[in-house]
Formats: sequence, structure tokens, C-alpha cells
Amino acid sequence: MEKTLILIKPDAVERKLIGKIISLYEERELKVIAMRMLRADQERVMRHYEEHIGRSYFDNLMNYITRSPLVALVLEGENAIALVREINGKTDPAEAAEGTIRRLYGQTKTFNTVHASDSKESAAREIAIWFS
Ligand code: PPS
Repeated sequence: MEKTLILIKPDAVERKLIGKIISLYEERELKVIAMRMLRADQERVMRHYEEHIGRSYFDNLMNYITRSPLVALVLEGENAIALVREINGKTDPAEAAEGTIRRLYGQTKTFNTVHASDSKESAAREIAIWFS
């Protein structure tokens, strides 16, 4: 069993998409084992996106992630990390496959509705950031 960290980002909470998004994970046998809603502060976002600090889009990303509450959750299941990334679709909603969360609900590469860990190492690091 693997665990992975998901963020349901502010644009999705604002558009009342929390339930629809969680259903898409639960329908694929992923189980919610932790969940919290919070408004992220800058310090937590800098830790989470530390490898993106200094990129041209970082200020936009920071403003977006901190603008209103988000939902952080931990999903557990077989091959959860790869499965969730398949369900989410590519980072850029315009390139994401039909039926994926980002294709259905994402707006741009920045406003892309959900985040998911990309490896076991990042899952452990990110779970500790959001569920300390
Ligand atoms: S990439 O394209 O390989 O850099 O994408 P990736 O490493 O998967 O994720 C990059 C995260 O930064 C957010 N972000 C952007 N990336 C690229 N370009 C722009 N303009 C941009 N703006 C924001 C992007 O949404 C990814 O965040 P997460 O939360 O991981 O989806």
C-alpha cells in the first residue's frame, strides 16, 4: 500500500468541486486516510514548492495557493502515487487526457485544480508539511 498527498486547490474549493474530486479518487479504490481544510500561509507554501522558488511563475503560484482555503488529504491504495497522477492528468489542463481532473476542471498550468506527490520520497516530505 502506498500513500500520497493531494491538495484540492483554492479554485476547486471556490467552485464547490471538493465532493466531485474526492469521488473520482474513491471510485478507483483509493481511500482517504487523512483530510484537513486550511488557508495555506506563505511559509508552508514555500516548503511545499521549494524547488519552484525563483521560477518566473512562483509569485502567481503563491498568490493562487494562499488566496482562499484548500483541502489537503492523504490517499492510500495500491500504486496510489502513479494512479493519482493518472486520475489528475498532466500539469497543463490543455494537455491532460479526457476524463482527468485537470482536463475536466483545470484552467491553466497555474490554476490546475489539484496537486499530487510525484514519488514516495516527495509523498513522505509533503505529508509531513501538511499534517505536522
Ligand atoms: S513541469 O511543467 O514539469 O515543471 O511541471 P511539474 O514539475 O509537474 O509541476 C510544476 C508545478 O508548478 C506549478 N506551476 C507551473 N508550472 C509550470 N509553468 C507555470 N507557468 C506554472 N505555474 C504554476 C504547476 O501547477 C505545478 O504544481 P502542482 O501543484 O505540482 O501541480
